[in-house]
Amino acid sequence: MTDVRAVGVVGCGLMGAGIAELCARKGLDTLVHEVDARAVEAGRDRIESSLARAVERGKLAADERDATLKRMAFTTDLADFADRDLAIEAVPEDEELKLRVFAVLDRTMVRPDALLASNTSSIPIMKLAAATSRPGQVVGLHFFNPVPVLDLVELVPSLATADEAWERIRAFAAETLGRHVIVSQDRAGFVVNSLLIPYIVAAVRMFESGFAVAHDIDEGMVRGCAHPMGPLRLADHIGLDTTLAVAESLYAEFREPHLAPPALLQRMVQAGHLGRKTGIGFYKYPVGKAA
Ligand code: 3HC
Repeated sequence: MTDVRAVGVVGCGLMGAGIAELCARKGLDTLVHEVDARAVEAGRDRIESSLARAVERGKLAADERDATLKRMAFTTDLADFADRDLAIEAVPEDEELKLRVFAVLDRTMVRPDALLASNTSSIPIMKLAAATSRPGQVVGLHFFNPVPVLDLVELVPSLATADEAWERIRAFAAETLGRHVIVSQDRAGFVVNSLLIPYIVAAVRMFESGFAVAHDIDEGMVRGCAHPMGPLRLADHIGLDTTLAVAESLYAEFREPHLAPPALLQRMVQAGHLGRKTGIGFYKYPVGKAA
C-alpha cells in the first residue's frame, strides 16, 4: 500500500467515472470534479449503473457497493482538491483543456508531494508537466474502458518525472489499485493506442471504401481472431471523438499517411455520431443505455 489515500478525479465521463469507481472500490477517499451540477448528476448515474451491473454480475456485494458510494464525493470546484494526495485528470482529449486543468491543479493542490496524473491516451506528458510548477510530480496514468473490468494501466514518465514520484505512482497503480502495469515512453499513443488506433483507422477506411460492410468487418475479427469486439464496434465503445483525437495526435507526431484520420470519421464526429455515448456511431444503441 502507498501513502496515497485521498484522490481527486477530474472529469466524470466514460473514463473518469470508471477511474473514480475503481478508486472508491479500492477504499480510497475519492473526490470527483465535473463542470456543473448536470454533469455531476450524469457522472453519478454512470457510476451507480456500473456498480449496479457489478452487483448483478456477482462481482460486488451490495454492502460493498454502499461503502463505495460513501467514499465518493462530488464537486464543481477544483479548489476542493487542495488536500488531495493525487489528482487524476480524465477530461476530454483536448490539449488546451488539459493544459488549463493542469495549471489550475498546480495552483490548487497544496501538498508539496502531491502527484498529478493524466489519463490522456495521446498528449505528451511533458507538455502537461510544463504547464505546472512541479513537473517532477507529473505522470501519465492511462486506463482502459471499461475501467472496472480491464485490469491494465500504462504508466508514462515524462523526461522530467522525479524518481520518487515515479515509484509512488507505480506502487499506487500496482498495489493500491491492483492493476497490471506496463511502461511506455512519452510518445503519442503510448503502447496500446499506437497499435490499436491504426487498426481501427484501417477498419474505418475499409468500411468507407465499400470494401466490406460494418457487420462483416467486425465479425471477421470477433470470429476469426477471437477479439471480444470488432474494430468498428470498439470505436463506438471508445467514442468516435476520442478515437479521432488520438488518431490526430498520432498523425501529428509520426506524420505517416496510414495514421491520417479518415474523412468519414471526421464527418461522423462533426455530426455528433460519437458511438454508444450518443446512441449512434457505426451502429445504433438504445438511448439512455449509451454509456
Ligand atoms: N465491475 C466489475 N466487473 C464487471 C462490471 C463492473 N462494473 N461490469 C461488467 N463486469 C464483468 C462481468 O461480470 C463479466 O465478467 P466475467 O467474464 O467474469 O463474467 C465481464 O466484466 C464482461 O461483462 P459483460 O458480460 O457485461 O460484457 P461482455 O462480455 O459483453 O464484454 C466488454 C463487454 C468488457 C466491453 C468486452 O466486449 C471487451 O472487453 N471489449 C473490448 C474493450 C476494449 O478493447 N477496451 C479498450 C479500449 S481502448 C481504451 O480504452 C483506451 C483509450 O485511450 C482509447
